[in-house]
Amino acid sequence: MAAAWNMPLDFDPPKIAIVIDKNTYTRELIEASGSFAINVPCRTLAEMTVRVGSSSGRELLGKPQADKFAAFNIPTFAASKIAAPLVEGCVAWLECKVIPEPHIQDTYDLFLGEVVAAWADERVFSNGRWHFEGHDDLRTIHHVAGGAFMTVSDTFQVKTTDI
Ligand SMILES: Cc1cc2nc3c(=O)[nH]c(=O)nc-3n(C[C@H](O)[C@H](O)[C@H](O)COP(=O)(O)O)c2cc1C
Repeated sequence: MAAAWNMPLDFDPPKIAIVIDKNTYTRELIEASGSFAINVPCRTLAEMTVRVGSSSGRELLGKPQADKFAAFNIPTFAASKIAAPLVEGCVAWLECKVIPEPHIQDTYDLFLGEVVAAWADERVFSNGRWHFEGHDDLRTIHHVAGGAFMTVSDTFQVKTTDI
């Protein structure tokens, strides 16, 4: 599924928070497996992102193309520490294990995850920094509303010693 509402939570161990609606099939899979992957899409994957966010995998059960990876022809590769596959063509991947917090899951649809492995495309991320210059097609996308997105813009550096 597409999941725009997510944020970092902590560095050590790395944790994230993500909102997963009760009606989604993804939530059922996350609750059953205790894990999930966040795949960070870029400009070239915007249409695919909307497509996986506009239909449910539940409707595909029992059909010849039984999941969205098959139905939408989405190439994947194996994760290292969780069962969920990772989406090829994304620019970063976070493998997460659910930190069980039943109250906030039930009340706010909010899931906390410990990031147990993470990867990024070195063309646009290295030494702990994003650098999209020269790679417009790889800029990450950020949902606004109704199929409208923003891509990240240029980076700039502030001299922290002068502040
Ligand atoms: C751009 C975009 C962002 C979305 N973000 C979220 C989100 O953060 N949380 C959520 O619960 N649903 C979100 N959705 C809706 C789910 O992706 C949608 O309900 C999806 O069909 C669920 O699929 P599933 O039933 O196969 O899990 C988003 C949809 C789009 C198009």
